[in-house]
Amino acid sequence: PRTAAVIPAAGSGVRLGPGAPKALRPLNGTPMLVHAVRAMARARAVALVVVVAPPAEVDAVRSLLDEHPPPPSVDQVVVAGGATRQESVKRGLAVLPEDIEVVLVHDAARPLVPVDTVDAVAAAVRAGAPAVVPALPVTDTVKQIAAPAADGGVEPVVGTPDRSLLRAVQTPQGFDRATLVEAHERPGDGDATDCAGLVERLGVPVVLVPGHEEAFKVTRPLDLVLAEAVLARRRK
Ligand code: C5P
Repeated sequence: PRTAAVIPAAGSGVRLGPGAPKALRPLNGTPMLVHAVRAMARARAVALVVVVAPPAEVDAVRSLLDEHPPPPSVDQVVVAGGATRQESVKRGLAVLPEDIEVVLVHDAARPLVPVDTVDAVAAAVRAGAPAVVPALPVTDTVKQIAAPAADGGVEPVVGTPDRSLLRAVQTPQGFDRATLVEAHERPGDGDATDCAGLVERLGVPVVLVPGHEEAFKVTRPLDLVLAEAVLARRRK
């Protein structure tokens, strides 16, 4: 089955500090998005990469990716994103050709995911799982609160889930195409922060496979420092 990667890259990146949309910020001189596209295009399974860009940056992203072309076996398409990650993914799914049967959804904000992790997710979907998510154990103990407090306020704790049963999930998340499309057509209430969350609402089983430390999400300024250090170590 042909596999496509959809890369939502339309976020503004406010938590990273002021500047260009997050996906266009450089890591060791190369925009984060270019690293993310390469990570997906290198995977054996991937035949098509769909980049979902900030609406105002579609042309800029097209020229950027033309400057850094994928291998000849991989096609590349750029479409405009929406107001939420969920909407952006939906717009990416809307342009997939008929013959795509497996879809990997990968955050541009996880530019350093190793190719082995991408291949493992794709292989698990091809082997028959409708939804596959890379995940790691959590290192911090996690507290549940009733509701977020206003800036600086104290937050009463309502519980402490058993840490050994918690996992932090990453991307690429891999799906049987029909399942993912249905999940976006019947999303239910409230925004889902990942695609697998929508699939769970359909009652379709979701499974986890081992994630990788280097698939971390670049969200805050310190994450940029870490990402550049990982890249520098790879070059050695
Ligand atoms: O905001 P968050 O860190 O969860 O964003 C995850 C990914 O979703 C990022 O790659 C971001 O560019 C993308 N995104 C998007 N469209 C939005 C918001 C976020 O494509 N409206």
